[in-house]
Amino acid sequence: MFKNYDTIILGGGAAGLFCAARAGHRGKRVLVLERAAKVGKKILISGGGRCNFTNVNAGPANYLSSNPHFAKSALARYSPKDFIELVDSYGIAHHEKTLGQLFCDGPAQQIVDLLLAECAKGNVEIRCEEDIEKVSHSDQAFTVITQNGTYSAPALVIATGGPSIPKMGATGFAYDLARQFGLKVVEPRPALVPLTLGGEQVLFREISGVSAPVVATANKASFAEAALFTHRGLSGPAILQVSSYWKPGDAVSINFLPDHSEGWLLEAKRLKPRATLRSVFREVLSDRLADILADKIALSTELGNAPDAKLREAEARLSRWIFQPNGSEGFAKAEVTIGGISTAELSSKTMESQKIPGLYAIGEAVDVTGWLGGYNFQWAWASAVAAADAL
Ligand code: FDA
Repeated sequence: MFKNYDTIILGGGAAGLFCAARAGHRGKRVLVLERAAKVGKKILISGGGRCNFTNVNAGPANYLSSNPHFAKSALARYSPKDFIELVDSYGIAHHEKTLGQLFCDGPAQQIVDLLLAECAKGNVEIRCEEDIEKVSHSDQAFTVITQNGTYSAPALVIATGGPSIPKMGATGFAYDLARQFGLKVVEPRPALVPLTLGGEQVLFREISGVSAPVVATANKASFAEAALFTHRGLSGPAILQVSSYWKPGDAVSINFLPDHSEGWLLEAKRLKPRATLRSVFREVLSDRLADILADKIALSTELGNAPDAKLREAEARLSRWIFQPNGSEGFAKAEVTIGGISTAELSSKTMESQKIPGLYAIGEAVDVTGWLGGYNFQWAWASAVAAADAL
């Protein structure tokens, strides 16, 4: 089989489907080639099955990229409000969970259905279970050969995502293709990923399952959210957020009592001289966490007998507890990938390659990575629209 289109989109995920739909609405003949048996698999598992489809606060400051300015244009032209309007137009009920994060009330399938309905309106052809064997470019046309046929179009959009969660079929295909066309790839790293602890810090395994509201910091990036101790190390939203800023060898600092002002422990000494560190910690932290932190500080006397300097030291330690992760759980557990197709060679307005006209890259494949909390889907939608409007 040989068929011609205006645009071929590789990857039927969030970005690929949305780009296809929008280009279809503009009258383009669009083909989506998806390797998996069905489209939108990551959408289905996202947000614990409820898809955190955007964040009302999404702006350029919520994204990491070698070029922090790159995302500005696309994010400004397609905002969370735009996507929320679309979701509302389908009657999909949603709620704000926390920190501007919008989730479906019902299953994430609703978002996939929305994308498929939008694609249908644009007469988009979606072909699943297509193994891309070869992609070539000549005479201003891209040709894609799969086991089922040969497809050709003057425009090709790379929307195959990043390699996080390989067991769902994620690969570095986008990067291989980009390199084939001479585009640079910023080294991909797992992000929004649990961090692992070893050595002495392994003792924290004793409190595996305990979570606490903290401020976690890595490389000057701080997030006030929950941290969770696991049998392998640290997880929870605060840790996933800082993991995107963390590199091997870096420390992660945790403030266990971000709402306590300096000197609170000396005040506790004055008010309750018979109390112990363990007992005052238990008043403000969960018992298991309080006990392990008090044990590690190892100040067993009653507060009234403890030197002020020691109490100041204990307080400082609690507000800047240093963890030295020995790694992360890697792509197997990473929600997203940092790095990817370099923005240096893409137009921030259209996502088109400056080297190869007609070649576009969108979504997670590109070196733009959002925080946890709906930001990554917002980038998928916004970059998809930027490309679709230019196709
Ligand atoms: P995406 O990965 O969605 O799609 C790429 C598509 O390309 C896939 O369908 C894949 O099968 C296909 N493909 C790959 N290789 C191919 C090939 N060689 N040929 C053809 N097709 C190929 N974000 C957020 O904002 N809110 C949330 O709630 C969550 N939750 C979440 C949970 C979990 C467990 C994960 C792993 C991730 C999230 N994310 C998230 C991140 C979010 O899922 C992610 O950023 C977007 O899905 C990226 O959209 P893309 O379309 O770029 O890639």
